[in-house]
Amino acid sequence: MPLAYQFRPGKGLASLEVTTLPSRALRPHEVRVAVRAVSLNYRDILIYRGEYPAPSDRAVIPCSDGAGTVVEAGSEAGRSLAVGDEVVGSFFPHWRDGAPSREGIAVSAGCNVDGWLAEEVVVDSRFLVRLPRGMAHATAACAPCAGVTAWVAMFESAQLKPGAWMLVQGTGGVAMWAARLAEARGIKTVVIGSDPTKAALMQPAGRTFVNYLDRPTWSEDVLQLTQGHGADLVLELGGKSTIRESLRALAFGGHVAVIGGLGGWTYDSMEYLQLITKMATAHGIYVGSARSLADLLAFVDEHHVEPHISARFSFRDAPAAFEALEAGRHVGKLVIELA
Ligand SMILES: NC(=O)c1ccc[n+]([C@@H]2O[C@H](COP(=O)([O-])OP(=O)(O)OC[C@H]3O[C@@H](n4cnc5c(N)ncnc54)[C@H](OP(=O)(O)O)[C@@H]3O)[C@@H](O)[C@H]2O)c1
Repeated sequence: MPLAYQFRPGKGLASLEVTTLPSRALRPHEVRVAVRAVSLNYRDILIYRGEYPAPSDRAVIPCSDGAGTVVEAGSEAGRSLAVGDEVVGSFFPHWRDGAPSREGIAVSAGCNVDGWLAEEVVVDSRFLVRLPRGMAHATAACAPCAGVTAWVAMFESAQLKPGAWMLVQGTGGVAMWAARLAEARGIKTVVIGSDPTKAALMQPAGRTFVNYLDRPTWSEDVLQLTQGHGADLVLELGGKSTIRESLRALAFGGHVAVIGGLGGWTYDSMEYLQLITKMATAHGIYVGSARSLADLLAFVDEHHVEPHISARFSFRDAPAAFEALEAGRHVGKLVIELA
């Protein structure tokens, strides 16, 4: 019987354990996938701490992001996917395409329905995306949460064009994806972070870095680096600890993609007047649809974008991967690979 990890939302990392799951018969639209790679996200920490929206109290298989090979297809699934196809799961198993809806975001993999940290998963084929030919499972497995969030914020919401300025915060998964996509699209990026060595790993030469620990009023540096223009898009990941400087760093008519809360989720230091006088737009982003994931992977394939993977772990060492995520020394993504 295939092995799977499970944890209990709200019960801490100590609740993570390996279990065996009985193989069950497929429903018509389902496929069975042999998992090859899984990536971690900061949300996995929030889930086991009980700080994530849409909680569940039953044990779930963690991780929204996984890719693998179809090993069995249900009677209806066989029309779109075949045994041997390489696939990646979408973050929201009920949001295929089009505008977001309450129903579409009601369940997310690895939170209130099972995720991908298992040797084998059974999923609805309609919410899987086929990998572009030759794409590594690890590359695809980095995309569903962090990659799609950056993609939606940059190109669906803010509709950034080449030559625009973007500000990213830190060197984690979302920040790294944004920097890599920006590079491919000719968007100029300022990275604020705690460590220039980490930032260098996701920055080719020519990109600009400001240390937010040394420069608490880093918006001044961003304005200077952009010759007074400011950032056309701020990917707001720090939340409470960054929002004030983010709005000060924003260009006239700019966008703030409201995404994260690494420094706390209350936005009590927000200066609304900055939004008003800059006629700016603040847009809540909550990952995206399977369609956005497919669009992102097509772009990644066409432009040869490679996500930065800090470390790779075996399935057996999955607990160490979560500990590494908590330690926050990674740049970009942490990946668990299965044979
Ligand atoms: N709304 C959504 O759809 C969505 C989707 C994905 C993620 N998120 C959220 O976005 C945030 C980032 O997620 P992730 O998975 O990319 O995280 P991650 O990979 O764990 O990245 C963490 C990195 O962010 C930086 N950081 C830590 N505290 C910070 C602070 N107070 N201000 C600025 N940067 C800080 C650090 O980099 P340095 O040491 O280099 O500074 C740290 O290594 C989280 O809050 C997550 O919940 C939201």
